Amino acid sequence: MTETGKRHFIKTFGCQMNVYDSERMAEALETAGYVAADSPDSADLVILNTCHIREKAAEKVYSELGRLNQIKQAREKDGQQTMIAVAGCVAQAEGREILARAPVVDLVVGPQSYHRLGELVGRAAQDGGVIDIDFPEEDKFKHLPSRGVARRAPTAFLTVQEGCDKFCTFCVVPYTRGVEYSRPVREIVDEAERLADAGACELTLLGQNVNAYHGEGEDGASWSLARLLRRLAEIPAIRRLRYTTSHPRDMSDDLIAIHGDEEKLMPYLHLPFQAGSDRILGAMNRKHTRAEYIDLVRRIREARPDLALPTDIIVGFPGETDADFEQTIALVKEIEFAQAYSFKDSARPGTPAETMGDQVPEAVKGERLAELQALLSAQQAAFNRSCVGRKFDVLFERPGRRPGQLVGRTPYLQAVHADAPDACIGKMIEVEISGAGPNSLEADILRDADSPGLAVANG
Ligand code: 5AD
Ligand code: SF4
Repeated sequence: MTETGKRHFIKTFGCQMNVYDSERMAEALETAGYVAADSPDSADLVILNTCHIREKAAEKVYSELGRLNQIKQAREKDGQQTMIAVAGCVAQAEGREILARAPVVDLVVGPQSYHRLGELVGRAAQDGGVIDIDFPEEDKFKHLPSRGVARRAPTAFLTVQEGCDKFCTFCVVPYTRGVEYSRPVREIVDEAERLADAGACELTLLGQNVNAYHGEGEDGASWSLARLLRRLAEIPAIRRLRYTTSHPRDMSDDLIAIHGDEEKLMPYLHLPFQAGSDRILGAMNRKHTRAEYIDLVRRIREARPDLALPTDIIVGFPGETDADFEQTIALVKEIEFAQAYSFKDSARPGTPAETMGDQVPEAVKGERLAELQALLSAQQAAFNRSCVGRKFDVLFERPGRRPGQLVGRTPYLQAVHADAPDACIGKMIEVEISGAGPNSLEADILRDADSPGLAVANG
């Protein structure tokens, strides 16, 4: 490792894959001699890892660049240089336009070029205005430094699949992340083992369309996500597995079955349906109908009756009538979601939906979203309340806001607050749920699930 004495600061917007990518960029920079700065004011290199999924997310980048411009100028007065890089999906989608709109930017780097970051930073320092938004032939994962060197967190994300071939008509992902790519099993298992050695006991496998995973297996054959999950479950230190996000069309029988018999796979499945009306689902090119979604949920719940089912929903897609929207509401009532993310349709540049006629007025989108969110919040609160009095193993992850308090997650991914000693961080502890709020649970510690029989002292 070369010691440059330089500091980096990475600000992450958007999805979990960006969180994962930021970690890998940080590790690549640390291998090149950088250390992490606490804030952009003390950083020689600031990276904004951006999200292009909705207009609001993309616009945040430009307001952030305005703030960074001030910091850059203030540092310059003190004789310090600051390099500013834009990474992620806005970088991929807007490329050169970013430099035109925000000349403060020195480097634009797309998600498939992170393994070249060290070299690109060097070039930007010399010449400024460097852009790399290629989709290179080489596998970036093979060229990034190995994982886990400095990590010490009990939970970790692991990207197993990237890109999407589904082309929903509202979505920029197939353009910003490219066509679907599955990492080979060997590479994933190596990374999982390194993460486990560094203290991770819960892994969340990531992919824009993760259940379409079809990577090369250890035997040279193409492996499904279910087979990959079974292989990862063999790693003794890995206690919990999750995966996100899934497309209904790719919920294969073996994946449904594993929810019923693999104890390490948590009873939680993020399964977006987007809209409740077949007419709108067709216009969205979702490749599934309302009835197919309902039947799929029935089959998954047969395999795992207590499954918590979060989803994504869009309101106000072009052409959506009141009657179409009522079908979204009816579907939510029928399925009952443990949690959901809901959005107003945002016309994204280059997508087919951008130019569709019959765009829904913003005010109507707002009313529909408010009605939908009230229903979803009530369902989430009811699910949380139904947990009171139940006993769960909770994996504690970090200290809470109050001294003596820790925060962990139930198998259903709800946040749990409990009074417990710091020694419980990274452990699975049995708790009894004593209270429920809209977004989190309170619990009392029962015993250390890692060493049954040993009571854990509170406080
Ligand atoms: N407008 C609104 N929401 C969108 N999403 C994706 N693209 C758009 C868009 N153009 C939502 C979908 C997806 C989630 C990640 O973001 O619900 O599942
Ligand atoms: Fe976008 Fe998901 Fe549709 Fe792929 S499946 S195009 S990532 S919404």
